[in-house]
Amino acid sequence: MRKFSSLLFLLFLSWTASAQQLNSPNGALQLNFELKDGVPFYDLKYKGIPVILPSKLGLKLKNHPDFTEGFVTSTAEQSDFDETWEPVWGEEKAIRNHYKEMAVTLHQDAAHEHRTLMIRFRLFDDGLGFRYEFPSQQGLAHFIVSDEKTQFAMTGDHTAFWIPGDYDTQEYDYVESKLSEIRGLMDAAITGNISQTSFSPTGVQTSLMLKTADGLYINLHEAALINYATMHLNLDDEKMIFESWLTPNPNGDKVYLQTPSVSPWRTIIVSDDAREILASRITYNLNEPNKIEDTSWIRPMKYIGVWWEMITGKSTWAYTDDFPAVELGVTDFSKASPNGKHGATTENVKRHIDFAAAHGFDGVLVEGWNEGWEDWFGNAKDYVFDFVTPYPDFDLAGVRDYARSKGVELIMHHETSSSVRNYERHMDQAYQFMKDNGYNAVKSGYVGTILPLGDNHYSQWQVNHYQYALEKAADYQIMINAHEAVRPTGIARTYPNLIANESARGTEYQAFGGSKPNHVTVLPFTRLIGGPMDYTPGIFEMDISKLNPDNNSWVNSTIANQLALYVTMYSPLQMAADLPEHYEKFMDAFQFIKDVALDWDESRYLEAEPGYYLTIARKAKGTNDWYLGNVNGNEGRASQLTFDFLDSNKTYVATLYEDQKDAHYRNNPQAYEIKKGTVTHKTKLSQYSAPGGGFAISIREANAEEIKGLKKLK
Ligand code: NOJ
Ligand code: CA
Repeated sequence: MRKFSSLLFLLFLSWTASAQQLNSPNGALQLNFELKDGVPFYDLKYKGIPVILPSKLGLKLKNHPDFTEGFVTSTAEQSDFDETWEPVWGEEKAIRNHYKEMAVTLHQDAAHEHRTLMIRFRLFDDGLGFRYEFPSQQGLAHFIVSDEKTQFAMTGDHTAFWIPGDYDTQEYDYVESKLSEIRGLMDAAITGNISQTSFSPTGVQTSLMLKTADGLYINLHEAALINYATMHLNLDDEKMIFESWLTPNPNGDKVYLQTPSVSPWRTIIVSDDAREILASRITYNLNEPNKIEDTSWIRPMKYIGVWWEMITGKSTWAYTDDFPAVELGVTDFSKASPNGKHGATTENVKRHIDFAAAHGFDGVLVEGWNEGWEDWFGNAKDYVFDFVTPYPDFDLAGVRDYARSKGVELIMHHETSSSVRNYERHMDQAYQFMKDNGYNAVKSGYVGTILPLGDNHYSQWQVNHYQYALEKAADYQIMINAHEAVRPTGIARTYPNLIANESARGTEYQAFGGSKPNHVTVLPFTRLIGGPMDYTPGIFEMDISKLNPDNNSWVNSTIANQLALYVTMYSPLQMAADLPEHYEKFMDAFQFIKDVALDWDESRYLEAEPGYYLTIARKAKGTNDWYLGNVNGNEGRASQLTFDFLDSNKTYVATLYEDQKDAHYRNNPQAYEIKKGTVTHKTKLSQYSAPGGGFAISIREANAEEIKGLKKLK
């Protein structure tokens, strides 16, 4: 029925004109499209306020006339769409995908060989997505995009939360500055990384979070990055215009395509309420529906790992110090002397399995179990890992059977060292090895310079590699958590086996010198717009020199803040990253990590300001339990909470994990307090968070027995 009515609508609203207007379903957003002297322009307004000033659209092609000018006619077809779909995992059980669409077909003049380009706009109540479409046509079969010239003209010198544009890494701290200050702050913002390639003093990455002087929040990103180069944004800081800047292939070309094909969606999320940016689902909605029929094997996972001990330098991935260089299949590890610091020993892994089983974790990640870590990056080494050969002190079958007997899953680790061709050569064998040994999830990694040399982490070729690994993993019923891969763009809607990515500065940097205390108040507005992050929270010992006397790093966070991250950093894959012995010292706080859910029926964004604070309440899937998390920036602050999201006829038991009054991320991070009390939908709470702090609350529907003797939570 719906199909029929939308067809009628379509017929009525198809016309030829140089200017077109489209309103979002509730009218809050208005898009204008116009051809001016043969050049396509768009602009966007929110409640009548300009968000994007008239901005050019188009692409430059190599060896063909450009798709930037010479357009003589345009036809627009409008339609509307409204569906509700259920994600396999997510922040809510149902997502509404409701938009007005306008598909503009543009024809070029004879000088431009009468080519046809389409631009499809989808206007939601919380944002705009648009993409280029290249229909099948005479004279344009294969073509090369030498530059994409999509503009985003700003209305002023906005505040931006940005990281340097880079073809190889997103592992940067965010800078908050005016747009006009980016150029002056760029050098200092480019902190060291094993692999990094910046390209412009005003180039920044997406997702980019902006705030205007009159309180509009604007987010620029992309959706459905498939078979295309990753988009950065380059600012003309005189005119305040961002322009798309694609990651090049090794020869400098940006994208190789053939007709018919489409670009990724360029997205602009906008609201006068920062919470709406977090609640927006346009990035998922602009992706194709789920392509995996049987999803029964895709499950959220809470895990621990043999990991933090290597990241902090307490132990090593490598088994031996005997060899300055190793050659797989030739180097004989059975004769080597162990260095005494290897993390992935049978004994240590079994200890972790015991801990996971005792505390109800689903999985244990083990890194450094396979040969090759003695010499794994920095030498453009092609055959660096084979992904199937364990070190002599890791009894793979024994550990596998032990984990199985305890009801714990092992999480595989495939560090590729960015030797991508080597990984593709081994992939079938590596995935089959996982299936044979009962591994259902893999953490993959792309540290170092991409091989073949000359390529970058975010080029079209690399984007296609990550997609190839994801789709092949789906064939094997394997879930993927890719580190250092391109940042997500909502592809997990289509391939929900992409349960997480890193693709930003994760907790590991707290052991590499530290991250800004407010980092986690920015990430949900930037990196998480495209999909979940394997942030690896849960650090309780902030003084890293206690793990490794040679490492003076400090984790810039309080314990209460670490607990809150399980709620504020949405991911169906959550790690408790600290060492078991540290959790054993703080079992009462650890209880929150054990209890907190991974999958949700509903999420409420209670308060939010990028860079400063955010508080989220989520209802655990299939239950009446709620979990709240607040993370706070550099200054102490009180949240004014109301619990009106709770059922009005019920009393709940709440356990609050809060910063003590004198807690501070730098000098008193372990000062927390735990309070238990009752709450109802009428409860109001003024709740303090320390600098770099936060709070976490678990809320369970209580029975009469439990409530006895409990006071109201204050
Ligand atoms: C970088 C990843 O982010 C980290 O989690 C991993 O331990 C190392 N690479 C080694 O693979
Ligand atoms: Ca990393």
